[in-house]
Amino acid sequence: MENTAHALRIDGRRLWDSLMEMARIGATPAGGCNRQALTDEDREGRDLFVGWCREIGCEIRVDRMGNIFVRRQGADAELPPVVTGSHLDTQPTGGKFDGVYGVLAGLEVLRTLEDNGIQTEAPLELVVWTNEEGARFSPAMIGSGVWAGEFSLEYGHNRADKAGKTLGAELERIGYLGEAPAEPHPITAAFETHIEQGPILEMQDEVVGVVTGVQGIRWYDVTFHGTPCHAGPTPMADRRDPVQALSHLCERLYSEVKAYSDDARMTCGDLRAEPGSRNTVPEKVVLALDLRHPEPEGLEHLHRTLYRLAEQVQEATGTTIDVREEWHSPPVQFDRGCIEAVDGAVKALGYSHRQMVSGAGHDSVYVSRVAPVSMIFVPCAGGLSHNEKESAEPDHLEAGCNVLLHAMLERAGV
Ligand code: GLV
Ligand code: MN
Ligand code: MN
Ligand code: MN
Repeated sequence: MENTAHALRIDGRRLWDSLMEMARIGATPAGGCNRQALTDEDREGRDLFVGWCREIGCEIRVDRMGNIFVRRQGADAELPPVVTGSHLDTQPTGGKFDGVYGVLAGLEVLRTLEDNGIQTEAPLELVVWTNEEGARFSPAMIGSGVWAGEFSLEYGHNRADKAGKTLGAELERIGYLGEAPAEPHPITAAFETHIEQGPILEMQDEVVGVVTGVQGIRWYDVTFHGTPCHAGPTPMADRRDPVQALSHLCERLYSEVKAYSDDARMTCGDLRAEPGSRNTVPEKVVLALDLRHPEPEGLEHLHRTLYRLAEQVQEATGTTIDVREEWHSPPVQFDRGCIEAVDGAVKALGYSHRQMVSGAGHDSVYVSRVAPVSMIFVPCAGGLSHNEKESAEPDHLEAGCNVLLHAMLERAGV
């Protein structure tokens, strides 16, 4: 690398200002963001981003899943690009940084190269993936998943939100149903910067996480069927109450998951009772369940535990429990070479750091199926994410972005 490239640093102030400008779109009174996938707010965020990319002369391509690819040409246009990116959609009560940081850090890298008149050998590509969160359309990471070949385009377009609106129709409505095929192209290397979304870096007083992989995730819709009846006259012993079945299953599953390993995770993220009336025992309750573990055997153990307990509770309560697996993302090990590129950049820049496994899912999971990938984490306050109070230090965001810049330069060549 030339000396000028070695000395290059991103503009932390500009990165912060862009993050704050994007955070105004879908801003919530509690200081967070609600910019769910393919809403009007998502469209506004995408438009702002695309405008910024046009200002620095990049080419823009949108694919059939609404993924946005921004290209900065290299000296050798034939070389496969070095890619970075993340997502602009948020949780319903999301923060200002989850996803957005990875997109705007990539933009800041391109702006820095533009300011300094630096052309890389390989082209650079910045990607916004559609519906990473899985909050509006299940499952998570569907834009990158269809692109990488994990799901068909038809499956992606047919995903429906709670109001029955489909992902394909909503893409068209907001003007981001692109022409380009949603399929992978050759990639030299890919990097994604993200807030950690957990407490480790902050607790250890470290600035950068060199991410070596992502833990596995399994999502289930568990439906408990009972008999609806009157809350007053029906004796407790005569009820087939799906809520009681749910509480038994959850209590046992929580305690087995905790006893199994400190690395195991269980989350009951959504509960819906039908018909949903205070003085009627529900006919059914649907639980959206999330299980995670970094090892394939660990995740398999949790999966089997769920089915075993569901059978036992079904028998004990006289209800019917239907466990349907909605999505499975196995644990991922990132590419050695990409991890080393991040590690080398962190060391050259002198930031305190550690290697770590991501607890959250990311688009990099699916990108890693078709290209060499790794990730860069920075701390977030109290480890809080998927929370309107999510916050991160400007200095840490700047540090992660400098690491991204140098990892990308190393892979693209200057
Ligand atoms: C995505 O945000 C996930 O890890 O669930
Ligand atoms: Mn994210
Ligand atoms: Mn998220
Ligand atoms: Mn995520």
